[in-house]
Amino acid sequence: MEAKHRGRSAIPAAGVTLAVLAAAAAALALSGCGRGPSAPAESALLAEAKKLFQPLPARMPGSFSDTPERVALGEELFHEKGLSVNSTQSCNTCHRVDGRRPGADNERVSLGALGTPGTRNSPTVINAGFQFVQFWDGRAADLKEQAKGPILNPVEMAMPDEKAVEARLRQLGYTPAFRRAFPDAKGDPVTFDNYAEAIAAFERTLVSRSRFDLFLGGDESALTAAEKKGLQTFIKVGCTTCHSGAPVGGQMFQKMGLVNPYPRGGDLGRFQETGKPEDRMMFKVPMLRDVALTAPYFHDGSVPTLEQAVSEMAWLQLGRKLTPQETRDIVTFLKSLSGDGLRVAKAGLTPPAQRQASAR
Ligand code: HEC
Ligand code: HEC
Repeated sequence: MEAKHRGRSAIPAAGVTLAVLAAAAAALALSGCGRGPSAPAESALLAEAKKLFQPLPARMPGSFSDTPERVALGEELFHEKGLSVNSTQSCNTCHRVDGRRPGADNERVSLGALGTPGTRNSPTVINAGFQFVQFWDGRAADLKEQAKGPILNPVEMAMPDEKAVEARLRQLGYTPAFRRAFPDAKGDPVTFDNYAEAIAAFERTLVSRSRFDLFLGGDESALTAAEKKGLQTFIKVGCTTCHSGAPVGGQMFQKMGLVNPYPRGGDLGRFQETGKPEDRMMFKVPMLRDVALTAPYFHDGSVPTLEQAVSEMAWLQLGRKLTPQETRDIVTFLKSLSGDGLRVAKAGLTPPAQRQASAR
């Protein structure tokens, strides 16, 4: 049943990565002893980068009690079209992780189960749990809270309420899998809360490491000269005041249009949640991991290319007009943040498939 679910092969197992890192560390230590003071010193760029970014941690926050049974159930549920009102849509419709795809749908905005377009672009679910909050406006604290949203959202999966989700889960035959995933549950393990916990457990396995992690780990040859030049520019022009840390973003809220106003208004960001005037146009600074694979860009999906997103960012957030060369350099660096082996999702929503065909 696993083989069909395609997603996790994209993600190098934490163990493997750790082993590689350990081997690299051992090699470094060896060369350190062997060659003494003549060992090549860390470049100024790497030293600076290490202050601003970190490699992705081996495990995602909250994952320490995730069992294989819980992750497997979450993976099934993530792909379960039977959990939308008319059985046409799963999480994977808008966040494609099949076939090494980058956790998004590459649509400007997505259509819900009933054909209604949403108003925001689908962010990737890969590495999402490394961010400090979820959603463009941060209205969910973590992956579990987030997972309770789309299934009941009338312009997404549009299920009427929590009880209806639980009834559907039982009807679809999930009770034994829930029992395995939640062995300590008193009474019926099929609850809306456990549904969200299982989805979150699966999402906590969606980690995509890139060559940037190797670079931060000390392997300076992991980035090309052009990518290093782009990293230098990214730091120099000030992108890192907002996009930093392990996810290269996802650590704070900031105003969209901080220096020059955002020209395509309509969505007021956090203000729509909190009603506080200071939250107008405040959005979560998105992470830039895998950003080259998740076009189009910005909360409204209005920008088709990474080049345009980078040059608009410099103008809107920093009041800077980048030269075409600077823009290209930054884009070259950002491409190094793509997880090995991930590829762009085909535009166009997956057609309603017969659930039976993809049955467990
Ligand atoms: C119809 C398309 C659609 C479906 C179906 C859908 N999502 Fe989303 N998802 C979105 C959009 C659009 C956003 C951004 C909404 C916002 O920020 O207000 C989002 C945001 C998210 C985020 C936040 C990521 C971040 O960086 O902030 C996660 C995680 C997520 N979805 C997981 C899921 C899960 C799990 C399911 C299934 C239970 C699901 N989504 C179903 C479109 C969809
Ligand atoms: C003052 C904070 C700030 C600075 C400085 C900043 N950004 Fe951003 N960045 C944001 C915010 C906030 C968003 C989300 C905007 C939105 O869509 O509402 C964003 C979005 C982006 C996106 C789109 C991501 C996506 O998934 O759609 C890219 C790419 C990006 N920034 C790159 C850069 C680059 C390159 C620089 C430097 C030239 C930069 N940013 C400087 C805050 C900042």
